[in-house]
Amino acid sequence: MKILIIGGGGREHAIAAAFTAENAGHEIVLSPGNAGIALEYPCVIMEGQAKIVEWCLREKPSLVFIGPEQPLAEGLADLLNEHKIPCIGPSQAAARIETSKIFAKELMAKANVPTASWTAFDDPGLALKHIIAKGNYPLVIKADALAAGKGVFIARSESEAQAAFQELSALCCTGSSVVVEEFLEGWEVSLFAFTDGEDFQTTLFVQDYKQIGDRDTGSNTGGMGAVCPILEAEPYRQQIEAEIISPILKAMRDAGCPYRGILYCGLMITARGPCILEFNCRLGDPETQALLPLLQTPLSEVCAAILQNRVRKLRLEWKDQYSVCVVLASAGYPGSFQKGFPIRLSKGLASRIYFSGVKSQLGSLITSGGRVLSLVALDESMEAARRNVYRDVGETDFTGKCYRSDVSLRLNAL
Ligand code: AMP
Ligand code: GLY
Repeated sequence: MKILIIGGGGREHAIAAAFTAENAGHEIVLSPGNAGIALEYPCVIMEGQAKIVEWCLREKPSLVFIGPEQPLAEGLADLLNEHKIPCIGPSQAAARIETSKIFAKELMAKANVPTASWTAFDDPGLALKHIIAKGNYPLVIKADALAAGKGVFIARSESEAQAAFQELSALCCTGSSVVVEEFLEGWEVSLFAFTDGEDFQTTLFVQDYKQIGDRDTGSNTGGMGAVCPILEAEPYRQQIEAEIISPILKAMRDAGCPYRGILYCGLMITARGPCILEFNCRLGDPETQALLPLLQTPLSEVCAAILQNRVRKLRLEWKDQYSVCVVLASAGYPGSFQKGFPIRLSKGLASRIYFSGVKSQLGSLITSGGRVLSLVALDESMEAARRNVYRDVGETDFTGKCYRSDVSLRLNAL
């Protein structure tokens, strides 16, 4: 098969690797990819959606897999569908489940899906006034816009609320609405649903390590590590499927925008049961790097089931192993950071390497982003996977290398 993967981070690298694992003969192209991915796969820059369509009409891929939310938010899936180019990813209207927190919250209310109570404000100034007047901390402040995982702030006091609004304006999110949300207590886990709009099948549970610091301290990031499977979440699977995923897919159909693709459910397991923190319209990064190496069913079969409306008959099989993914980031991330440092990779690492923020300079890889690369180890136990991945973290180096040293050590209990 010829497959085009849209995106250029660790997630897309892992998606490419999953297709290669099922059949080394697949012809895989990424756009834009990155210099690290280009060591293994052709990467082509296609400026704008029209160029992607042009490429597809010429190259006739069997499948286009859209990794990140941005092209989905911009309607790439709609455009590809118009040209009868098979693609994995929801329509622009359906992607609103991620791109508009307010759309998602209203949908959840209609579908009776458990989530934090919330109020939306058009004017961030009014939101801050409301927060201060209520004085009801902790609470959560979210930008109603895509912010690469960085538009969410937990305020435990008035001064933290003020600081959050300052950071929001630095992120350029203040032009858009703000959602102020009830703080939910519990533990977090992610679950993905492969769906053709009617039926769905869920993956293993995965856990993201979102904050920059050990023991979940510091700012939220795009994700600093991931672990799979999270067996402690299994007792909640049936309830999540019946009370969250099934009704939300029905609500999407009722709203005239059936959801076809991969639905990301970011969950908080609370004392009153699983609650949705957020839905995303795609696979997670770095959750994908931990999840897909465990998938035994060929990924192309999963995609075919989505495209041919036969997800009901899809049987997902998983390796009986554990995976631990650790992200190596640039010092300063998720704030400002320096880039351009050479990356030293040891030969013969046991872990898989998925590249994100890297560039090539004079034939060598240098850092060019906040999250630089992720390392993923699989093993028979979580402990062994953890040991292996951290040994390789020690073997991989660049100036300012930052990482969490507690990935997989979280206790998942109320
Ligand atoms: P989100 O992008 O909405 O998933 O938020 C990013 C992170 O902020 C989540 O993974 C949680 O750790 C935290 N968070 C978001 N909303 C809430 C909430 N209502 N209560 C507690 N923590 C939250
Ligand atoms: N790791 C969080 C996300 O992909 O949204």
